[in-house]
Amino acid sequence: MCGIVAAVAQRNVQEILLEGLKRLEYRGYDSAGMTVQDGSVLSRHRAVGKVGALAAKLAAAPLPGTTGIAHTRWATHGKPTEANAHPHHGAERVAVVHNGIIENYEPIKQRLESDGVTFNSQTDTEVIAHLLDERLSKGEDLFEATRTIVTQLGGAYALGVMSASEPGVVVGARQGSPLVVGVGIDEAFLASDPMALLPVTDRFIYLEEGDLVVLREKGAISVVDRAGQPVERTVHTFEHGDGAASKGEYRHYMLKEIFEQPEVIEAVLEGRLSAGSVLVESFGPDAQALFQRARQIHVIACGTSFHAGLVARYWLERYAGVPVQVEVASEYRYRHPVVPEGTLFVALSQSGETADTLAALRFAKTLGYIGSLAICNVPGSSLVRESDVALMTRAGPEIGVASTKAFTTQLVALMLLTLAVAKVQRGDDHRDIVEVLGTLPGLCRQVLALNGQIEALSQAFAEKQHALFLGRGAHYPVALEGALKLKEISYIHAEAYPAGELKHGPLALVDSEMPVISVAPNDDLLEKLKSNLQEVRARGGQLFVFADENVDITGQEGIQVLTLPYVHEALAPLLYTLPLQLLSYHVAVLKGTDVDQPRNLAKSVTVE
Ligand code: G6P
Repeated sequence: MCGIVAAVAQRNVQEILLEGLKRLEYRGYDSAGMTVQDGSVLSRHRAVGKVGALAAKLAAAPLPGTTGIAHTRWATHGKPTEANAHPHHGAERVAVVHNGIIENYEPIKQRLESDGVTFNSQTDTEVIAHLLDERLSKGEDLFEATRTIVTQLGGAYALGVMSASEPGVVVGARQGSPLVVGVGIDEAFLASDPMALLPVTDRFIYLEEGDLVVLREKGAISVVDRAGQPVERTVHTFEHGDGAASKGEYRHYMLKEIFEQPEVIEAVLEGRLSAGSVLVESFGPDAQALFQRARQIHVIACGTSFHAGLVARYWLERYAGVPVQVEVASEYRYRHPVVPEGTLFVALSQSGETADTLAALRFAKTLGYIGSLAICNVPGSSLVRESDVALMTRAGPEIGVASTKAFTTQLVALMLLTLAVAKVQRGDDHRDIVEVLGTLPGLCRQVLALNGQIEALSQAFAEKQHALFLGRGAHYPVALEGALKLKEISYIHAEAYPAGELKHGPLALVDSEMPVISVAPNDDLLEKLKSNLQEVRARGGQLFVFADENVDITGQEGIQVLTLPYVHEALAPLLYTLPLQLLSYHVAVLKGTDVDQPRNLAKSVTVE
């Protein structure tokens, strides 16, 4: 994780870098730092805590200069202390910001120490500063030095480096961690994510793996590839717009993003349906042939995206008749998976930069899949560029670390995939589902209107230590996602179970202190779910049920029921996710946690 930003500009860069860091804070927020070049002096401030702590230091003692690098950290090697915060300096001659992990830093460190180098931090990154310093003292320029030392680095890195003896120069390198070049007007920038640079440019070069880039004054940008050859990389115009930069009327980004769901669900559907049928071409020109050949599908993802994959398994098997396996990327990449002939690989990721998911995709390419499909929210991300076919989820930037609109738009995209596979392989349009898809935004609005009631419900959770979420069928993953949301932002221990499994263990946990949350749509598992809820009630558990308006589950002593509008059962997992998001949000607000940036987490995990 971690976020880096760098600038070679025509003006003082402090504010540009600071704004960039604020926008990258979702990537890590335990400490931050900035080095600015003033003539041949590198001046640095670092602070423990969020970017605000660094901003306070900069306000008290500004760092003037037109070239600089900055970093917001999510600790991997070494605690979040000021000494471990980036930029790291080597002999005051060179400054480095790094996102990633240098896996072989220990032998490098030992070698440098035996040569008399003193280390000032416990980080893996500091070796880069000293390796560069070593080369610079041999007379190499910053670019040459960087090119030499990256060959010694194992693991993953996105780097921004500068040297006291080369004013107006920043060198960047990318291997395994994201890095984009911002193309300004007579100015040039680097960042982990285009979002960081939207106040200064909307034109970006997405560096390829192994690329090195040199930014010089007057906006000069030169890229060389892994082989050291100068290359021209395409300049892309950023399409998302900058609407996510503010919370608007909302208290938190998470709440804003929950309420954006009706619009983004409309966006993900736009232009992808026609006359009661999905447009298979919306997956790209190669999709038809790929889907035709898909005898099985393997879905790989992490975190919330994994839960979307679990819902899709129910859909793809039921509506398209294709066997599906779903697995978390960090497990998949270290197994020895057997890939039956005719298997399609599907990677799900909001960011398209999650290290484990990317590694899984790269591994999958060696295993004989018929092709790879990325379902992703970030155009130009590594996952999208490296997959054969991509479908964008168009959720717009998601800032809250706990994923909300990215999840529901992934579900819509996965339903489109289900419909596309069913159409290509079986000639089945599933017209009923297609028709209801168009009504989803309106149904979501109706559910969001329950916000006040859900807020009132949340009071019952503020003092709880544990919670249990139950669902059946495609709503088991919905329960998993509900439990994850509660854990992530309210720090309440929550578990999710398929309701039928309750009697095989978790029932032992149920007593009058245990809140049990269940989703009860009007589907063919309803009667079975009701029996499971009776099992909870009989043990004194406090039930909170989100139920279809037509089902006869009534509120009574120990059972609180909130009714949702009727929805076609195929789309119920989408709708029933919303109240669980709102519930977690309100519980977290009551508990006073940092809703948008919960402790120990990061939005985009670009390290293993
Ligand atoms: C992190 C985030 C989660 C997210 C997961 C996968 O853990 O905190 O919210 O679900 O990464 O991210 P991706 O961008 O690949 O969907």
